[in-house]
Amino acid sequence: MDGTLITSKVITNLIIRKFQESDLKSIIEILQINNQLTHPDVDGPEAMIRVSKNTSSVFLIAEINGKVVGSVRGVYDGSRALIHQITVHPDWQKQGIGSELIKDITREFKNLGAPSVSVTAGKGDQWDSIEFFKKLGFTDMPIKLMVNFNIDELIEK
Ligand SMILES: CC(C)(COP(=O)(O)OP(=O)(O)OC[C@H]1O[C@@H](n2cnc3c(N)ncnc32)[C@H](O)[C@@H]1OP(=O)(O)O)[C@@H](O)C(=O)NCCC(=O)NCCS
Repeated sequence: MDGTLITSKVITNLIIRKFQESDLKSIIEILQINNQLTHPDVDGPEAMIRVSKNTSSVFLIAEINGKVVGSVRGVYDGSRALIHQITVHPDWQKQGIGSELIKDITREFKNLGAPSVSVTAGKGDQWDSIEFFKKLGFTDMPIKLMVNFNIDELIEK
């Protein structure tokens, strides 16, 4: 299925398709520009390849005239669908590409049986996705994402 065309959009020849390993360099570049690659062990190239091979994951690429301009990825575990990461190259932001990526990953989740979609939205020094997700119809939940980047500490405690 890798590389299969899912949809073709009218917005400046936008194509949204499945991730291929040849997309790695472009996606890494976009994540670095957007300051989203703060934990390469979690989100770096090896992780992207694992995600693309994981049958519970959906990993989509936005491409315009053969150039990778963004991506979105998430997971559906049979109960909840969760979008973990979305990125659009700064040169292409605010032109509807992020919205199309969310629409297409949602369609994929629905086809897998998901009744809802959640996102890990946030605000950092150089990015803020809260308003973007609100505009698309996501609402706040009284929960907070917590993480321990030292997985061994949790096991050894
Ligand atoms: C957030 C992001 C994915 C949005 O993608 P995009 O292609 O720019 O989004 P769209 O053009 O589809 O925007 C849809 C709407 O949200 C608004 N919007 C987009 N990003 C916004 C932001 N950061 N703050 C406020 N509003 C925003 C757009 O203006 C548009 O509003 P409109 O419908 O009134 O015109 C993109 O800006 C991005 O990659 N940002 C940096 C990384 C990031 O924050 N990722 C999310 C955290 S994982």
